[in-house]
Amino acid sequence: MTIDIKKIQKDMPLLDKYIYLNTAAASAMPQPVVDAMTSYIQKQASIGPYLPSFRQETYENIDIVREKSAIFIGAKKEEIAFVPNGSMAINFVSGGLPWEKGDEVIVLDTEMLSNYVPWLALKQQGVHLKVFKTNLNYMVDLEKLEKFITPKTKMIAFAHMSNASGALQPAKEICQLAKKKNILTLINANQTVGLIPIDVRDLDCDFLLTSGRKWLRGPEGSGILYVREELIQALTPIMIGWGSTNWDYRNDDYSFVATAKRFEPGCPVIPSILGLGAAIDYANDIGIHAIHQQVKRLTTYLLEQLQSIEGMIIYGPQQVANRLSITPFNIEGISPDDVTNYLAQHGVIIEAGTFMANTIMERNNINKMARFSPHYFNTFKEIDDAISLIKEFR
Ligand SMILES: Cc1ncc(COP(=O)(O)O)c(C=O)c1O
Repeated sequence: MTIDIKKIQKDMPLLDKYIYLNTAAASAMPQPVVDAMTSYIQKQASIGPYLPSFRQETYENIDIVREKSAIFIGAKKEEIAFVPNGSMAINFVSGGLPWEKGDEVIVLDTEMLSNYVPWLALKQQGVHLKVFKTNLNYMVDLEKLEKFITPKTKMIAFAHMSNASGALQPAKEICQLAKKKNILTLINANQTVGLIPIDVRDLDCDFLLTSGRKWLRGPEGSGILYVREELIQALTPIMIGWGSTNWDYRNDDYSFVATAKRFEPGCPVIPSILGLGAAIDYANDIGIHAIHQQVKRLTTYLLEQLQSIEGMIIYGPQQVANRLSITPFNIEGISPDDVTNYLAQHGVIIEAGTFMANTIMERNNINKMARFSPHYFNTFKEIDDAISLIKEFR
């Protein structure tokens, strides 16, 4: 299946002015996502949010998005909670499990803050965070990981793809190993849902999460937390509110609803959820396999072109087969901020920073890096334009 790039680019008003190569931070929403949100907001403004028939229709639409989200990642509707971002989803898991003193959690040495600090914070409950060293290619060596596991290991929480190395981990194999040892797994799929096919049953993970605003191209304030059905009861919500909680007023008691909706206290972020639904439709229309293949091609091309720049240092796995899209780099003697700002002045958006993945900066002895992260809507020509600008700046 090929990508109809003309049609896709028509849905992106920003292309009149910019080349957008920063989906790892947040993508540009396609017009149908904007339309789904604005049409709700407009209607809400015209008739108010609580006209009974409109409110009912809205809740039914949210339920349809829940079903779509579940199908998109191979889950059941009951296993899906809407969250406003990926960080919150990780906190629901780290904060909701019944930890015992001495339990160990393993994360990778390539995690960004949001999949590191929530686990570190468990030290107040006597839980030890153990950081697994990925190999020189930023990849998990499964034999080493097996040796790293102890009888106290309760959870392996890892980024499917690191936001600052682009290394795509063997998620299924990690989950298989964990399962064999009776260890829970959380896949931080912030950088893969919407980019590669995801099937939670095939991956056999216990928890998986993503924000909606990255590779799915949904709105800010949207995200999905998947909780394996058998574990929903074991995960105590760290927040309580209407919609997720039953109040047994007479007995001065409460309980949580039986599904993953128990992680959605209070009023849903309706425009973002509806936008997420439109984003899933959009990805489905193109086809997730076609998206994956196109980004593979763009990644290979981008790496080749970057290597033609003098002084170029590319971080992440050496083999292109182990990486996708996210391409962090530095140019000898040039600040990543300066390159990024120069590109921005010429209408090309990339990003420079630590990406809150400080261990990756440390391993490379740098303070910052610049990063490309093309998605399927980008073209080879756009990459050429960006490369020419870098050469010109040099
Ligand atoms: C790998 C990774 N994990 C976690 C997060 C945090 O997600 P959010 O910003 O939606 O809270 C991000 C977002 O930048 C990320 O790239």
